[in-house]
Amino acid sequence: PTPHAGAAGGDRLVVVAHRGASGYAPENTLAAVDRAAAMGFGWVENDVQRTKDGRLVVIHDATLERTTNVKLLFPHRAPWRVRDFTAGEIARLDAGSWYGRRYAGVRVPTLQQYMERVSHNHQSLLLEIKNPELYPGIERQTLALLDKEGWLDPSHLTDRLIVQSFSAGSVRTVHALRPGIRTAYLGTPQVKELRAYARFADQINALYTKLSPGYVSAVHALKGPHDKTMRVFAWTVNGADEARRLDGFGVDGVITNVPDVVRTAVTAR
Ligand code: G3P
Ligand code: CA
Repeated sequence: PTPHAGAAGGDRLVVVAHRGASGYAPENTLAAVDRAAAMGFGWVENDVQRTKDGRLVVIHDATLERTTNVKLLFPHRAPWRVRDFTAGEIARLDAGSWYGRRYAGVRVPTLQQYMERVSHNHQSLLLEIKNPELYPGIERQTLALLDKEGWLDPSHLTDRLIVQSFSAGSVRTVHALRPGIRTAYLGTPQVKELRAYARFADQINALYTKLSPGYVSAVHALKGPHDKTMRVFAWTVNGADEARRLDGFGVDGVITNVPDVVRTAVTAR
């Protein structure tokens, strides 16, 4: 992809590959990151959680059984929580076979491995801190790793990285620890509450069914912590009609499992 590419085919809408190009490759794996890159998409989204021995890994669910073969390898370890397994144990799991035989042997990436691949591909990252209530201090730990990998350099902070969470407290913590980072709150606060969110969140990333043109305008009327117009991204938008409708609402970005479908829909308008 074009470095820093966010817009779809020159269009203004930012298209983010949700959990990587997860409509075409197993979610939250390096294969899904590479698939997004091969399709020309510069933005990928992921989910970050923590292992028993304190390593950050990229996986969506709080448990391992949906997206790995953990039941086969560790049949007596129910309920197979991410936080009850070491990084070494998780590294042995197959995170690709559930999706398709050609992805057999694909692993759950560590956050470090994931970021190295995103950097290598010249992509940008929408990083979600997932279930932060389960992992005290995960915000500080994630930022330390991002810093070590060069992701908190000024060149990345402007347009290569956004940190998001469903937890307002987590987003607020990220903003307090490193005020330069662009942040997003995952949810749809009431319009009268938006001003409070604008103190620590640069954008609202909303479930698309909750959005309306009026809500998008209300967000756009505010400035975020970096004194720029607050933005709205919609998730998870996997249909051409929905993509066109949300583009019509004036959203700034769309998070999708099928980025090619969204790009085709909005450029064909
Ligand atoms: O990026 C938005 C979206 O990822 C939030 O929902 O459950 O897919 O993490 P979820
Ligand atoms: Ca997510």
